[in-house]
Amino acid sequence: MIIFSGVQPSGELTLGNYLGAIRQFVDLQNRGAAAYYSVVDLHATTVEHDPRRLAEYTRMVAKLYVASGIDPERSVIFVQSHVPAHSELAWILMCLARTGELNRMTQFKEKGRGSESVAVGLYTYPVLMAADILLYRTTHVPVGEDQKQHLELTRDLAERFNRTYGETFVLPEPLIPDVGARIMALDDPTKKMSKSNPNPNSRIGLLDPPELIERKIMRAVTDSEGTVRYAPEEKPGISNLLAILSLSSGIPIAELERRYAGVGYGAFKRDVAQAVVEALRPIQAAYAALSDDAIERVLADGAERARAVAEATLAEVKARFGYLPST
Ligand code: TYM
Repeated sequence: MIIFSGVQPSGELTLGNYLGAIRQFVDLQNRGAAAYYSVVDLHATTVEHDPRRLAEYTRMVAKLYVASGIDPERSVIFVQSHVPAHSELAWILMCLARTGELNRMTQFKEKGRGSESVAVGLYTYPVLMAADILLYRTTHVPVGEDQKQHLELTRDLAERFNRTYGETFVLPEPLIPDVGARIMALDDPTKKMSKSNPNPNSRIGLLDPPELIERKIMRAVTDSEGTVRYAPEEKPGISNLLAILSLSSGIPIAELERRYAGVGYGAFKRDVAQAVVEALRPIQAAYAALSDDAIERVLADGAERARAVAEATLAEVKARFGYLPST
């Protein structure tokens, strides 16, 4: 089993990033898988970004990886732009990808909504993501539900390359959790929780202090039925809070429904807030203890280890594609 996944340094990470993705990163590492976890800064610049904050966000995501339990000795933690092979393989895959298949990708349409044209980098974003994954001969990619389409494209591109130029790439499988794959926004539970939503009350930040977490959860939009039960279509707000409570406390949803039969939403929400505060407490403490220097050492070592693997794959791909090797 070889694991690869990435998180964009595009703002403070949310509880959605943690429950949908990072928690799985830690579990997989602890089950003994070889794992590469990248801070995908090249992806973060496909939309308008603040160049004064990108480096800070990059260190923040790397620190949150370590603070969440990813061990930099066992897993490789690195910054995407530190390994040039990602951009190089993306170019080769761009020569294989068809505009027709990229036009079917939903993300660039969502992110570019309202504008007639988008950055070419946003359009080719999924191809760079395929390069990230394929460079490490990844077998499994832990992600939230929103990345499923990108994984399908990755497999299609890998298959196309293998068929045309010879067996080179491993076809990766997505690992999408049953519960938590799509944590919803607190102010509108029909939309996913996102670090780029302009309303900060829509999300829980992994570094939010306890009082703020409590305030945001107490204000979360629910319904007027008054019964705590899991029905994502009919009751998206309460179902989202149940998923969050279940993942934060380790108690299955069915058991929570039994425990909260007849309990009002106010008391239920207080317990959800408490469970989230407790789940994030050790992560926040570990985060605070990590210095910029310490994380930069982790990233320097990670880049070296990632480069060794990525360059070997890239050399093989370039040879199969027919480029004259440089001597
Ligand atoms: P990004 O930075 O948007 O999100 C990082 C991870 O968090 C998951 N996620 C969620 N899961 C559940 N509920 C939510 N509300 C929620 N919001 C985000 C995402 O599914 C993701 O797993 N394209 C990727 C980054 C990437 C990548 C890769 C991932 C680049 N290259 C290679 C895997 C493999 C992204 O935008 O993630």
